Amino acid sequence: MPSAQTPAAPQPDLSGMPEWQPALNPTACEDQICWLNGAFVPLATATVPVLDRGFIFGDGVYEVVPVYERAMFRWPEHRARLRRSLAKLRITDPFDDAQWTSLIESLVARHPWADQFVYLQVTRGVAKRDHSFPNPAVRPTVFAMTSPLTPPSDALRASGVSAVSLPDERWLHCDIKSIALLGNVLARQAAMDGGALECVMYRDGQLTEGSSSNLWVIRDGAVIAPPRDHRILEGIRYGLMAELCEAQGIPFTVRSILRAEVESADELLLSSATKEILSITQLDGRPVGHGHQAGKPGPIGQRLHEAYQSAKARAKQAGAAPLASTPFASAPVAMP
Ligand code: PDD
Repeated sequence: MPSAQTPAAPQPDLSGMPEWQPALNPTACEDQICWLNGAFVPLATATVPVLDRGFIFGDGVYEVVPVYERAMFRWPEHRARLRRSLAKLRITDPFDDAQWTSLIESLVARHPWADQFVYLQVTRGVAKRDHSFPNPAVRPTVFAMTSPLTPPSDALRASGVSAVSLPDERWLHCDIKSIALLGNVLARQAAMDGGALECVMYRDGQLTEGSSSNLWVIRDGAVIAPPRDHRILEGIRYGLMAELCEAQGIPFTVRSILRAEVESADELLLSSATKEILSITQLDGRPVGHGHQAGKPGPIGQRLHEAYQSAKARAKQAGAAPLASTPFASAPVAMP
């Protein structure tokens, strides 16, 4: 702090630098509310300290939970994955199941859209920069926001999406839903630079996943899935896919998949919370599939898409659980 004795520190010469512009247009989300560390606050102006370990190290985890007709879809599975991710990074789970549920229901209730996707993030918290965990531990930073959820358009569904093949250059703990997503970010950008929407990644010649989706290979009427191990994120749609296949009588096999098998697949599918189940119809500029179906969404993808819509419809019918009179039902609320 400058005082009467201390000469004022020289200011950096920033002439010639482009004027700093906030990337977020606050009016674009001015009606959105988020949860940050114990209170509902406007999303456009919510801030965390720069020493938050999420900002400094990417030291945190996240979840993306779809909500249909205000009812969470597969929430127990998302909750279980969040718990696993936190445990693997040894970050204290800030809430119990009922508190998480209540927080999300309350956030969803504050927004006008029937269908939403809720983003949850927990970081290790704010501490002096040091790679090792703060000791004593600090309170985790908890953030939750929601956005309108629009499924892929009919046009996109009819055309399918294009993808490019890439080496999987990410770390070896892809099973953790970590916010440190630089490998995924670079992969997605490489796909976009190649005129595609997603990438198909390989590690040691074996299929792993996309930048933000799981991948499925269809051969001879069967769905083949890469193993659920440290090389992929086990999507919540992974378990659902197995269930849908069983209900549809479609054989479902989990095993390592070679690149040649992907490139000669009958169909390729991707799945995620926001993309649901979508066909990849072009890979590296070549049509996926054979004969008259080459380059078009195929029949297995279509059946699984319909089965997914039925599962959503059942969840919608179940409706939103009534908002419990829990601590999060009114704002602001102190952290437990
Ligand atoms: N991404 N693999 C990766 C690397 C992912 O980022 C995702 C989801 C999935 C599919 O998981 P799920 O079925 O639970 O959505 C697989 C989310 C949607 C995202 O980061 O926005």
